[in-house]
Order: sequence, then structure tokens, then C-alpha cells
Amino acid sequence: MTRTDPFATSLRTHLGGELRASHAGAKVRLGGWVHRARNLGGLVFVDLRDRAGIVQVSFDPAYTPAEVLERAASLGNETVVLVEGTVMARPQEMRNADVATGDIEVRATGLEIVGPAVPAAIPVARSRNENLAAEELRLRHRYLDLRRPELQKNIVMRHRLMQRARRFLSEQGFLEIETPILTKPTPEGARDYLVPSRVHAGEFYALPQSPQLYKQLLMVSGFDRYFQIARCFRDEDLRADRQPEFTQIDIEASFVDQEDVMALAEGLIGALWAEAGYEIPERFPRITYADAMERYGIDRPDLRFGLEIGDASKLFATLDFAPTKAALDEGGRVRGIVVPGGGKLSRKQLDELDVVAKSAGARGVLRVKRTGDTMSASKAAELLGVEGAGKLGIADGDLALFVAGPDHVTSPALDRIRQELARMLDLIPAGERRFVWVVDFPMFEKDPSTGALGAVHHPFTSPLPEDVSLLASAPQRARARAYDVVLNGTELGGGSIRISNPETQGKIFGLLGIDEATATKRFGFLLEGLRAGAPPHGGIAFGFDRIAMLLADAGSLRDVIAFPKTTAARALFEGAPTQVPAQDLEELHVKVAEAQA
Ligand code: AMO
Repeated sequence: MTRTDPFATSLRTHLGGELRASHAGAKVRLGGWVHRARNLGGLVFVDLRDRAGIVQVSFDPAYTPAEVLERAASLGNETVVLVEGTVMARPQEMRNADVATGDIEVRATGLEIVGPAVPAAIPVARSRNENLAAEELRLRHRYLDLRRPELQKNIVMRHRLMQRARRFLSEQGFLEIETPILTKPTPEGARDYLVPSRVHAGEFYALPQSPQLYKQLLMVSGFDRYFQIARCFRDEDLRADRQPEFTQIDIEASFVDQEDVMALAEGLIGALWAEAGYEIPERFPRITYADAMERYGIDRPDLRFGLEIGDASKLFATLDFAPTKAALDEGGRVRGIVVPGGGKLSRKQLDELDVVAKSAGARGVLRVKRTGDTMSASKAAELLGVEGAGKLGIADGDLALFVAGPDHVTSPALDRIRQELARMLDLIPAGERRFVWVVDFPMFEKDPSTGALGAVHHPFTSPLPEDVSLLASAPQRARARAYDVVLNGTELGGGSIRISNPETQGKIFGLLGIDEATATKRFGFLLEGLRAGAPPHGGIAFGFDRIAMLLADAGSLRDVIAFPKTTAARALFEGAPTQVPAQDLEELHVKVAEAQA
């Protein structure tokens, strides 16, 4: 047996899943798991699974020694075996076109059972449609769940995307540079994971929320183009598209402006989508933040369907309708969505939309229905009349839904309604991909309860040159040189052109309520760096897990991460976080405040 196969080792000659008709006649040794064993009484068929796929191995008295056949008859699913045999072309009528190895089988002459004989703790599902064990149970036995072809495919896709990103960026002159994991808090808006220092009592490292400050300092050092497949840690409320520990494709470049970074990002996304077999437009359309909020109620709009939000305040101001009047008097607006053909929505569906809007903070949803010249579904509908409906573009058979209040209430409510409507009315075409850049984000947002300004992107983002003067007079109106790339309503990545001037950086800290002493303490190393001569620089970071999830067509981030956390930030299989012995805590100078349950 010659070792011509790259996967050949001392124990095997090939991956079974890679065997084809061209291997017919070859003597092979394979290693893998028993995917399925069928004992036909004297004749045993085993589907042997390895990383490359599944191959059929037959045990038959015609060519299999009796003691080998006897052992094969005892095989249980998920047992690890080594098999020796000869690849044979199957007779035409026995070929299976559904399987890549379907033209051949391996006639076994030898079998070694490596183990184990105990049944697997959870069934290893064989196909997409097969019922899966509960996710919690599967996460608890992750090593078994990862045997599932579906997850194997996802992890392989992740690898390919990662290699493609590396190759693409490296070819563009970007250097892959690692930055520390034990570091100092970086403000990306989430809580930090802290690591107590043993040697420095009472002091803590923070795990990086992103390599933001380091990558800027690398520009100060003159590396010009940096990237990193960077692990980031954020202690935040988890959602389906968030993990406490996740991976970014993190990028920074010098002597660039926004256009340079956006063009580079489009190139990288194009390369990644191509790796997964999709051709996408070279350039993506753009929408301003203000426009996105006005028309879609969210800064990451899903452009696969219409249902844009309109402002009906003017018309409602003329109606003698107390609820909307009150909202208008308080400085709010009446905004809504016209749903063409929406008259057919059921009462139950309308009630569901109410629930969705209320959970987003709206007091209620105003329904306006037009059937011919009859207006119905609310008092407001009657007051509007056909004339009012005409002005709002509500035609026969349409429904319109309105929410009244300040924008910070109407926007999220209408965003949720819009998304829910798209699902209900099946408006999202399969396979549609709508990339969009969201640009001109505001620099700051006001905390509604404290009134304090916070950075919308992060405090190192520079303002648009034409808005610099607003920083002194009306900082809330100042826009940033920040950009997000969004696909079908998911934020894939975001970045900005940074502040390279230490004075400006100081001013921005001031506006954010970070005084000089605090700024020096928290970000002194950055300010020092900027003073040492920083080139104009900027960058972007992509959520790599999100990209892998979309390109692997997976349902959750957990399906593209080998060992993910649950939505409660637990690692179920290894069991983290966990209590630690009192002595360890003592060494770390840590006292746990409350008795542990
Ligand atoms: P930002 O905070 O926008 O920017 O993060 C960049 C991208 O990372 C992804 N992402 C996440 N993915 C999974 N789980 C999470 N918890 C999570 N949080 C963020 C998103 C997001 O678009 N330093 C800046 C980038 C820069 O300015 O260059 C930053 O981290 O896809």
C-alpha cells in the first residue's frame, strides 16, 4: 500500500468518504465511526463515517474471514473501527447516486474495534431532517453533536472562510499581528470580563472587547496595514446573534479615508461570499443613518422588502382624535406603514402585531383599513375618510398601521411591525441578498434617563469634517466618519476613521464626560501614542461568526462555533463558569460577597 493520499497515516491509507470508482481494485485501510450497521444475518453492511463522508463497507463470507464477520455482527453505532479491504465498483443497479461514494463499496477482509461499545449519550443525527435531541443536551455532549455531518460542514466552511480572509488581506499587504488577551478595559459599550492578578493584589486585567486601541497604536508604530482574526469578549445581554466570546476579522490601515476602507471591505466580503459560491455586487448601496431610521426605524435595515415607514403627522394633526393629538402635542409624530393588500390579515395576526409593537415600547397600534370606499378598524380610520386615505396612499384592500409618540418609541415599534409583516405576508424572496452601507452615524447618543452623552460607535471615532464646529454648539447633531455594513438586517461589521489628533481626542473625551485625569488613567497610552505622531487612520471589524453563520446557512451562531456558550453564557460541556477552591480565591485576593448557592 503506497501512501499517495494526503490523509494517509500509519493507520490508514485513505479517507473513506473520498473513495471513488477510480479507486476500484485498491486495497485500503480506513478508520472511522460506525454511522450505521445493518446485520442481514450472515451478511453485514456498515456505513463507515469519517471527516470526508460515508462509505459502505460490506462483510460477506465470500471474502471476509469468519472471525472478522463475527466481530462485525456485534458493531454498534458510533463505535470507532479500523477496516481493511478492497474497493470494488458496485454493479450498475446497486449504485447510489445520492452518496458521493455511491459507485463503490469496500469489501472487508479485516476489522479492528477500537471502541467503545457503550451507546452514545445522544443519538448522532444523520440528516438535516432527522429529529435532534434538545439543544441543551447536545451542547452538554458537544463532542458527539459535532460528529453530525451538518456541524462538520459548518466548521469546514468556517475554516475555508478564515483562510480566504487571511489570503485576501495578506495579498493586499495587511500584516497579521496578534494583540494581548490580558489587557486593559476597552470601551465598546459592553461590560468587561475581568481576570484578577495574583501577583498584584486588587488589580485586574480585562479581556479585550476588541483590539481597538492596539490596532490604532500599530498604525502609530508605522505598520500601515494590520489585520487579526481576533477573539473578543463582551459581557452583555446575549441574543441569537451574540456570543460572549466571538471572533472578529479586525482591520486597520493608515493614510486612508472612509472610501478606502469601504472599498477594501467590499473586496473582502466579495471574496468570502465567492468562497461560499455566491457572486455579489462589487459595490454596495449606501444609506445615511438618518434616512435608515426614518424609512426603516432601525440602523440596520432589511432591504429585501418594502413596507417603508412614512410620516402621517401633518394629516393626523387635522383630525380630532385624542390619542394621536396628545402625542403630537408632546412633540412626537404619527408614523406608519401602508401594507398593500394588508386587508386580508386576520384579526389574530393584527393582534400579534400589537403585541410585537407593545413589546418594543409602543402604547398601541392604530389600524386603518380600506375596503372600497369604506374606512374601518378604528375611529381614526373613519375620521381620515377616503380622502385622507388617498393622501396617505392607502388603496382599496390595504391596511395601514400607525404608531404615535417620540421617535425613540415609534422607530423600534415600526421596525418590529415591519419585520413581522414581512414574515406574515411572506415578502422575503428566498436567496435574496441585500448588502447596504449605513453611513453618517451620529457621534453621540443621549442616555434618555441621565441625559449624558455616549459614543454611538466608540470614543475614538472622528467627526465628519463639516460637523466639527457642531461639537462645541450642538454635539448631538454632529455626525461621525463611521460606517456599518449590513446584510438583510444583520450588522456584519462596523468601523470608522479615527481621531488622529490628541487634542480632538481630548475634546471628545470631554463631551463624553471623561475628565482629563480619567482619560489619562484609562487611555493614557493611546493619547501618548497619538502625541507621538499618528497617521490618518481607520478601519473596520467584521463579526466573523455572523458571516460564517450566514454563509454556512446555519440557524445560529452556536452552529458555526465548535464550542459555543449558551444564551446564559454557560459552557455546558466543560462546565464553565465554575466555582473555584477557596484557596485559589485567596491567592487571587478575591472574596466572594454572597454565599455561593
Ligand atoms: P463593533 O463593536 O461594531 O466594532 O463590532 C464589530 C462586529 O463584531 C460583531 N459582534 C459580535 N458578534 C458576535 N457576538 C457579539 N457579542 C458581537 N458583538 C459584535 C458584529 C459587529 O458588527 N473596534 C470596533 C471596530 C472598528 O471600529 O474597527 C468594534 O469592535 O458583527
